[in-house]
Amino acid sequence: MSATGAAATQVVIAGGTPLRGRIRVPGDKSISHRALLFAALADGTSRVAHLSSGDDVARTAALVDALGARVRPLPGDELAVTVASPGVDGLREPCAVVDCGNSGTTMRLGLGMLAGRPFHAVLSGDDSLVRRPMARVADPLRAMGARVDGRDGGNFAPLAVRGGSLRGIHYELPVASAQVKSALVLAGLQAAGTTELVEPAPTRDHTERMLGAFGAPVDHDRDARTVRVARGVPRAFELDVPGDPSSAAFFVVAACLAPGSDVVVEDVCLNPIRIAFVDVLVRMGADVETRVTGERAGEPVGEIRARTSELRGVVVAGDEVPSLIDEIPVLAVAAAFADGVTEFHDAHELRVKESDRIATVQQELAQLGVAVEPRPDGMLVRGGRPRAATLKSHGDHRVAMAGAVAAVAIDGESTVRGWNAVAISYPAFADDLVALGGSVA
Ligand code: S3P
Repeated sequence: MSATGAAATQVVIAGGTPLRGRIRVPGDKSISHRALLFAALADGTSRVAHLSSGDDVARTAALVDALGARVRPLPGDELAVTVASPGVDGLREPCAVVDCGNSGTTMRLGLGMLAGRPFHAVLSGDDSLVRRPMARVADPLRAMGARVDGRDGGNFAPLAVRGGSLRGIHYELPVASAQVKSALVLAGLQAAGTTELVEPAPTRDHTERMLGAFGAPVDHDRDARTVRVARGVPRAFELDVPGDPSSAAFFVVAACLAPGSDVVVEDVCLNPIRIAFVDVLVRMGADVETRVTGERAGEPVGEIRARTSELRGVVVAGDEVPSLIDEIPVLAVAAAFADGVTEFHDAHELRVKESDRIATVQQELAQLGVAVEPRPDGMLVRGGRPRAATLKSHGDHRVAMAGAVAAVAIDGESTVRGWNAVAISYPAFADDLVALGGSVA
């Protein structure tokens, strides 16, 4: 492990150097989780390459393996795996508590899958995950016929689920959440009748695209924000996971901010609902462009190019927010360097992510001398001239990497403490930053 790898508890970044070159970021985290879970539903052997290298996806792999769908890396490539499943009806009761670590996706989608299985399972996680709301999944799964229990009436892990004999429901999601939607799709595939889900705002649609591409009975009406699911399973498949746009976003913003930069992120997922952060950066005046070069499992794939830019403040609100919710920490860093005020509204969900990202982003930008006015559902960031500082991750991978992006753009040395949090989604982030010309020790 290098000194700047995910095992490092802190990194020191000397900013102001240009970032230049081409990079491939780890496989998309959302698609990687889904690939493993869908492979477990399919009868036979699936092959998945370029899985996300983060701990979150390793948790889903361990869940799937504990259910009896064997996940094995190919010799010499830990991130290319085969998943050999006995088929959904052959999955078995896990004999120990499933530790989902920091991964909300493992827990929520895992609950949806387990809700249809006629056995008992217990899911738990780390200090952050056991404080994140789960009633949003437990309540509709109960309405479908599953038994789910946990702390606070089933809102907090550890959660026990005993599944089986589900019936389809019509459900209007009270929160715009791809995790809730996907959990209910996984349950709907195992339920009698039709499950119909209506979203309050569009959220990432990998579940619908991938299951459609793998032959499962899932219909998606994007305009009506409705997903319909019948009983059925996907077939075994092969997938090369495209790069994660949420990881790419850190290098894209860093290239916009660091002087003399020109960076291309290649082989990245360009699903429109995942690259709304590019639209925001372009509204801010950034020199960022995307180019679609192909399609995999129903997902457009291509490259993103970003060059040094002068940015101005904008408003981010409404239906676009769920499409860039994970990018708000790094967009807030872009806002810190922009001319004028950037407003983030309708983003209550930031309060219940891996950290309270309104509080943690405000606290870290304050260290850089940037004024942030927090709101219950967002924040106002007053752009200016951030100064070098010592920052903290708060155990949140995206806060850690957003801090590193700020550091790259500031002359002088900044430190990011709690760096090991990056292991959740991007263990080699610092090495890749160095490969682009960043100075990291
Ligand atoms: C995810 C959905 C989002 C996102 C999370 C991953 C997914 O959460 O924040 O990092 O893979 O479905 P929501 O459930 O709020 O959509």
